[in-house]
Amino acid sequence: MSLIKKIVRPEVLAQSSYYVPDSKNMVKLDAMENPYGLPESLRAALGAHLAQVALNRYPVPSYRTLKQKICQHFGVPSGFDVLLGNGSDELISMMSVACAKPGATVIAPIPTFVMYAISAQFAGMQFVGIPLRADLSLDLPALLAAIKQHRPALVFLANPNNPTGSWFAEEDLVQVIQAMSDCGLVVVDEAYQPFAPGTMMSRLPEFSNLVVMRTASKLGWAGLRLGYMSASGEILAEIDKVRPPYNINVLTAAAAEFLLDHLPLFDAQATQICEQRSELMAALSNLPSVHAFPSQANFVLIRVPNSEQIFNKLLEHKILVKNVGKMHDLLKDCLRVTVSTPDENRLFIDALKAALKQTD
Ligand SMILES: Cc1ncc(COP(=O)(O)O)c(C=O)c1O
Repeated sequence: MSLIKKIVRPEVLAQSSYYVPDSKNMVKLDAMENPYGLPESLRAALGAHLAQVALNRYPVPSYRTLKQKICQHFGVPSGFDVLLGNGSDELISMMSVACAKPGATVIAPIPTFVMYAISAQFAGMQFVGIPLRADLSLDLPALLAAIKQHRPALVFLANPNNPTGSWFAEEDLVQVIQAMSDCGLVVVDEAYQPFAPGTMMSRLPEFSNLVVMRTASKLGWAGLRLGYMSASGEILAEIDKVRPPYNINVLTAAAAEFLLDHLPLFDAQATQICEQRSELMAALSNLPSVHAFPSQANFVLIRVPNSEQIFNKLLEHKILVKNVGKMHDLLKDCLRVTVSTPDENRLFIDALKAALKQTD
């Protein structure tokens, strides 16, 4: 056995690296990115702004200006602050690392965002997944029973959920938060909030065990890698201790501060994407062999006759979606498709129609 295999933890050896497919020359509908780039004038102004950044200096460690802008623009309640992450991926990892007491458990409904289970495992926590119902809605009684049984330190609830697009009712989230009040924290992950009908952000003052997590990625800044989360000062202070120092680089901080002054542009893009989601759902409803699950996010989950074959046919048409058919039994023959521009959505629908014909 090689030295590295001897010293690396077995659960790490057993994992494969996070796989990202090559998307060169593809219509890229696999990662829930905003398809709209920055207008030319804004690019030039952003370039000039970034040219002023002192690359020879470490970031200001408090990130005070950026945090204040985030609180102001994203509805963080008065008296609450945020913690920043290099993407919300890093915040998820920080939550797990901080709470990984021996024997501690993380619970989440499944299928959901894979990083909850992976981060728990890497932190040495037990992960318990509670299956959604067949219609991909939340099985609240099963989740509450699991909380009673396992007394988890953390519950992650992605709302809307990835990869299903499901929206969990606020009353259900409140029941989970209350059931967790004497054992752990509930992280409501609102990564897709710009496309969703609600938020728990304004309810933070009511619940001392609630954490609301968001990302700037889906709004249009995936390349910046910026996530934020809000909770009581006591919670943020403890999680901050496991944050790598200077985790937000100066270019990301400066770009985000600049872009936050242009938020209406990105809000308008999110509105457009929601309109396109309705158009896409209407087009999908005309395809009898396809089932589209309701979505409150910037993607749609569809069930097709054979997801492997359709995925490969779409690739031949230069369309890249995500084949989630093998991720969980509930997702058998499912593909996840990002809602994009009218042109790209049309290319996808045309290619899907052709693929369905070819695999008849
Ligand atoms: C529910 C959910 N949370 C968090 C993330 C991570 O986002 P990022 O690391 O880009 O901030 C994703 C990414 O797809 C997601 O789907």
